[in-house]
Amino acid sequence: MTTPSNSPVTTHTLRQMKREQRRITMATAYDAITAAWVEAAGIDTILVGDSLTNTALGQPDTIGATLDMMIHHCAAVALGAGRALTIGDMPFMTYKISAEQAMASAARMMQEGRMKAVKLEGGREVAPIVARMVDAGIPVLGHIGLVPQSYHALGGYRIQGRGETDAKRLMNDAIALEDAGAFGIVLEKMPAQLSEEITKHLAIPTISIGAGPGCDGQVLVLADLLGMTGMPPFKFVKQYANLREVAVGALRQYAEDVRGGAFPGPEHSYDA
Ligand code: KIV
Repeated sequence: MTTPSNSPVTTHTLRQMKREQRRITMATAYDAITAAWVEAAGIDTILVGDSLTNTALGQPDTIGATLDMMIHHCAAVALGAGRALTIGDMPFMTYKISAEQAMASAARMMQEGRMKAVKLEGGREVAPIVARMVDAGIPVLGHIGLVPQSYHALGGYRIQGRGETDAKRLMNDAIALEDAGAFGIVLEKMPAQLSEEITKHLAIPTISIGAGPGCDGQVLVLADLLGMTGMPPFKFVKQYANLREVAVGALRQYAEDVRGGAFPGPEHSYDA
């Protein structure tokens, strides 16, 4: 069975897609325009990632994201989205202090940011918090492997899950999140063999970013996939466009037209 293209994507849709071996698509968006692009492309899920600190705000890591900042961008994305499942990323230290803190933060993401679900980073250590959130009616997407909010603790953006002990740690984290009621898990930057093993073990869908093709779906940061930054892409990114080149070319032409008097012309002007 296929999902009618106009019916909203829900957490149940994603689980059904896993059962039917239909791959799940996810891209990030940070404002109403980019959300509308992702929506128009028929992508199943939109993640308002805290990567917006890197892409939209030019910061070096995701630690600087605050709840207010995320809610501001989530609310814009919610206005540009349609049938896609919208998921807001919970920022650093807004959910790990207690289940009460996590529920209060997630409530703001859903009520003020109009997100349909939230994502948070961590494995076994956050599972009891995830269980409380799910019990309270908050759909939670997990995120394990390379967890960018722990950048400083991990000593950089290193691949995770290499070697038997670390692979076992990540498998146990995935199982704990599933048992806690997470509706899916993002697997970031880990060996493809491990992510495939985790994916086969779980009933809930896994979403890969730098975790190979054996997951149930894939996510990319919009600025990476559209080539918006001019930076060389990471190994795990496929760049589908060079928007920076297109944008800079158009802006150069605009400046040239203004300086040379070619724009605005009579066709862009109003009569008395
Ligand atoms: O913030 C983000 O964009 C993310 C993705 C990399 C999964 O967490």
